[in-house]
Amino acid sequence: MTTSAWPHLFDAGAAGTPVLLLLHGTGGTEHDLLPLADRLAPGAGYLAPRGPVQEHGMNRWFRRFGEGVFDVDDVVRRAGELAGFVDWAREHYGIADRPLVTVGFSNGANIALATALLHPGVVANVVAFSGMYPLEGRTIEADLSGTSIALFNGRSDAMAPIDSVVRVGSILESRGAEVERNVREGGHGIHPTEMDRAAAWIVSHTAA
Ligand code: MLT
Repeated sequence: MTTSAWPHLFDAGAAGTPVLLLLHGTGGTEHDLLPLADRLAPGAGYLAPRGPVQEHGMNRWFRRFGEGVFDVDDVVRRAGELAGFVDWAREHYGIADRPLVTVGFSNGANIALATALLHPGVVANVVAFSGMYPLEGRTIEADLSGTSIALFNGRSDAMAPIDSVVRVGSILESRGAEVERNVREGGHGIHPTEMDRAAAWIVSHTAA
């Protein structure tokens, strides 16, 4: 798929606001996270692509062999394609000078984290809900000193096990990223109590 043919939604939002790159979870669409956008960054713009991989009719961001067992070669490839799309869209929509914050849920959080780990010049600020380490077995060599990540996870999430959450935080930090960890009780999902903290994090990472 060429970048310009990638199904997506875009809204420029108000001048001077950040643009949120919204990445839905497995089985979702580009519409899923729109209700969150206004809650997380009122008036902000958004860029919401659709996951390009199909799994039994469900949209995803990369292939997997089973629950939590990722096709890491495909993760790497798809992260590169997403980075290419984001570069294209920032130029195409004239938003290259606006702060970009990537907000991902579940499979969308995992591709957000993979893209941040592999393409830090494209995805530098990430709010990851129910994400985990997406690049098992790979060594990360990028300089992530300009990268900031907020992780939001449930302590008993069987789909994003806490040891993998700890690992992604440690790897990000070992490469120089700033990491904020938010762990609540419960499992997979976006919890209402996480909204205020995520919104405050976005303000503090995009204020001029
Ligand atoms: C993934 O495949 O990215 C995670 O297991 C979460 C999900 O099921 O989407």
